[in-house]
Amino acid sequence: MESELNALLVEAQAAIAAAGNGTDLEALRIRLLGRKEGRLTLVMRRLSELDPADRPRVGQLANRVKNEITAQLEARQANLGQLVPAASPEFDLTLPGRRRWVGSRHLITQTMEEIVGIFVRMGFQEELGPDIEDDWHNFTALNFKPDHPARDAWAGFYLDGGWLLRSHTSPVQIRVMESRPPPVRIVAPGRCYRPDPFDASHSPVFHQVEGLYVDEGVSMAHLKGTLDQFCREYFGPDVRTRLSPSYFPFTEPSAELAASCVICQGTGCPVCKSSGWVELLGCGMVNPSVLRNVGYDPDRYTGYAFGFGVERFAMIKYRIDDIRLIYENDLRFLRQFS
Ligand code: PHE
Repeated sequence: MESELNALLVEAQAAIAAAGNGTDLEALRIRLLGRKEGRLTLVMRRLSELDPADRPRVGQLANRVKNEITAQLEARQANLGQLVPAASPEFDLTLPGRRRWVGSRHLITQTMEEIVGIFVRMGFQEELGPDIEDDWHNFTALNFKPDHPARDAWAGFYLDGGWLLRSHTSPVQIRVMESRPPPVRIVAPGRCYRPDPFDASHSPVFHQVEGLYVDEGVSMAHLKGTLDQFCREYFGPDVRTRLSPSYFPFTEPSAELAASCVICQGTGCPVCKSSGWVELLGCGMVNPSVLRNVGYDPDRYTGYAFGFGVERFAMIKYRIDDIRLIYENDLRFLRQFS
């Protein structure tokens, strides 16, 4: 019986080494160690027939053989797992793996979040308003007279019933001031709509960020200081800003803010048209008529407001020369900002 066990071990070792895949190996395991008909099981069942004096010795040998075969089966199994099936028809080993695409926020969303984040850290509160507005919030309360030519510059997409798609985010100023007493210090990002041609620098749908601060004693100096700090955070610490006179019905005085060209630092480039300055936004002191329209006392309160295009800010920072790139959703473009 002992020589039978030793022979079985030798035979098993050869068979295990020859097994070429998991299925063959499992069949072999059953043939060798199976509870009912396994070769080793059958031998061990005959232990009781032995002389009691021989039983412990042969029993130990049988156990050693069993452990050895089990260990070898396991080793071969692990080994087979790593083997690449050489020419299996089920697998095309040259096929590249399937890639999982990871999404990311759109450039405009990122830019808007960055801008709002800067103002929130300066103490502004984020506010949102509706995309569909009425004439009062989009124009009249903002001091546009019914036939004022300035309405043309903010011409809107009109809907039935006198509604329109807001042509700027300034109506959010009105909604916020109507809803609560001063002081207010808000920043309002959102989508705007104007019937402009879709060309390199215009889009009928675009985004703005609006800012408004009304309290006692708010001055133009606060406006300039805040915007200056904002530009340094958004464009970098070396940027310089300047205000120049402008006109908006809802601010008086009104101004335009320009920044030293972040691309050429004033040495001349197509973005600043060699002037060294790029126009960034419109701003000014809230017109007393606007304060009166929302029920604020213009003798007690003053405020400043500003508003600007998000696309323009992103285009200057990332040197994008055509606004249409932002909306075409060409992944090669978008991935540069992910
Ligand atoms: N609403 C103006 C625009 O769309 C920008 C602006 C906002 C100007 C607030 C002054 C104050 O161009």
